[in-house]
Amino acid sequence: MDDPFHILIVDDEPNIRSGLAKGLEKLADRIESAGSANEALDKFDAGTFQLVIADVRLPGDRDGLELISLLRQREPDTTAIVITAHGTVETAVEAMRRGAFDFITKPVDLELIRQQVAKAVEHHRLQTENRALKDRLAKAGEVSGIIGNCQALKEVLKQIQQVADTDATVLIRGESGTGKELIARAIHDLSDRSSGRFVAVNLGALPESLLESELFGHEKGAFTGASRQKPGCFEQAIDGTLFLDEIVEIPAKSQVDLLRVLESRQFFRVGGEENLESNARIVSATNRDIPQLVADGSFREDLYYRLNVVPVEIPPLRQRRDDIPLLVDHFLSHFCSRHGRAAKIVDQTALQILTAASWPGNVRQLRNVIERLVVTVANDQITANDLPAELATTASTSAATGLTLTEAIEAAEKETIQAALAANDFHRENTAKALGVSVRTLHYKMNRYGLH
Ligand SMILES: Nc1ncnc2c1ncn2[C@@H]1O[C@H](COP(=O)(O)OP(=O)(O)OP(=O)(O)O)[C@@H](O)[C@H]1O
Ligand SMILES: [Mg+2]
Repeated sequence: MDDPFHILIVDDEPNIRSGLAKGLEKLADRIESAGSANEALDKFDAGTFQLVIADVRLPGDRDGLELISLLRQREPDTTAIVITAHGTVETAVEAMRRGAFDFITKPVDLELIRQQVAKAVEHHRLQTENRALKDRLAKAGEVSGIIGNCQALKEVLKQIQQVADTDATVLIRGESGTGKELIARAIHDLSDRSSGRFVAVNLGALPESLLESELFGHEKGAFTGASRQKPGCFEQAIDGTLFLDEIVEIPAKSQVDLLRVLESRQFFRVGGEENLESNARIVSATNRDIPQLVADGSFREDLYYRLNVVPVEIPPLRQRRDDIPLLVDHFLSHFCSRHGRAAKIVDQTALQILTAASWPGNVRQLRNVIERLVVTVANDQITANDLPAELATTASTSAATGLTLTEAIEAAEKETIQAALAANDFHRENTAKALGVSVRTLHYKMNRYGLH
């Protein structure tokens, strides 16, 4: 047990209190007891207790069940076990309804109680861990302004939480506009390097001739136009994070140089003699399929492995449509306030179209569409008519645009099965026969596509 575990025993019989306290001694770091609900409340407020074991019948105006409700209102993570002399199902059910974890019956069997308490300790530990994880996730989103509630994004947030405090090299993959840079910044903000600099360099936007000096810096007079010494990205990012965007755009020759620096951490400024060292944490990103480029021979395999220690995959927006309404809301209020407009809402039909669109440009495209709407729509309600025409068409022809081949095939398969089911009055054997598959395969596919 890592965290201290404290138990509060509430029973009006001193013998039970002391007997339990003695019997559970080894399972807790501290045990206190109280003879009534009010005394228990006082003790609870004065200390911290992870587990409360309370008799249902207590002297005074509050019984054990009420006590449990009150304690769990104060501290929702409190685990409670009730003791009942009567062992009636009703009491047990009522106790569980009020949030008790378990119940025990008098006369108390110490061995049994020890087992139950051990389970309660474990339950409490898991619950605390879960909550801590949720808090960390919420914090990850908060720190970096990442909006989204879908499982895939939560996984990404969880992953970056876990690696933020390490120096591990992260490679972020995702289509254009999915939020790769946002995630890279989040990794920096959540890490213990957050007081250092986040230096972003776009390798796709740099001419080959400038690349080396941009990454490693140059000395005064190193080349024509180098009128003064300039530190490169690796130097600027010391104690911070270096974000290498569009990593696959780096020319073959520079791939070797980059690999060498990543391995040795040492480099020279262009024209310099001094061997410099950078501890920058490397996060890189690409919207391309690197394994494919490695197979083609256009990207070095050793560099890929060096960069891809922790791979993070951001799914395209069309694969997390549940997040679209959240993002719409977020960008609406963001741009209304930025452009000094009164708050606007998107009506139901418009929201449906936005949610169904294929968004080849992902979150960036959505963001731009909403900004344009905020600026151009005078009414406080945005309707389907206000939406750019390309959205409606991308939505209705989504089978043709923005889908991967697998997604397109699956969409077609689902549609075909649906149509065959309808044509055969949902008779499964006939449908299977019409489709030329076994009934088992049909069942499997129906389950998979949620067709019932
Ligand atoms: N989950 C999100 N919540 C809020 N804003 C987001 C989210 N994802 C992306 N954005 C916003 O969308 C825009 C594009 O994100 P970003 O620049 O990080 O994408 P990218 O993957 O780096 O794109 P590219 O491949 O084109 O460089 C930014 O304005 C970013 O703030
Ligand atoms: Mg980017």
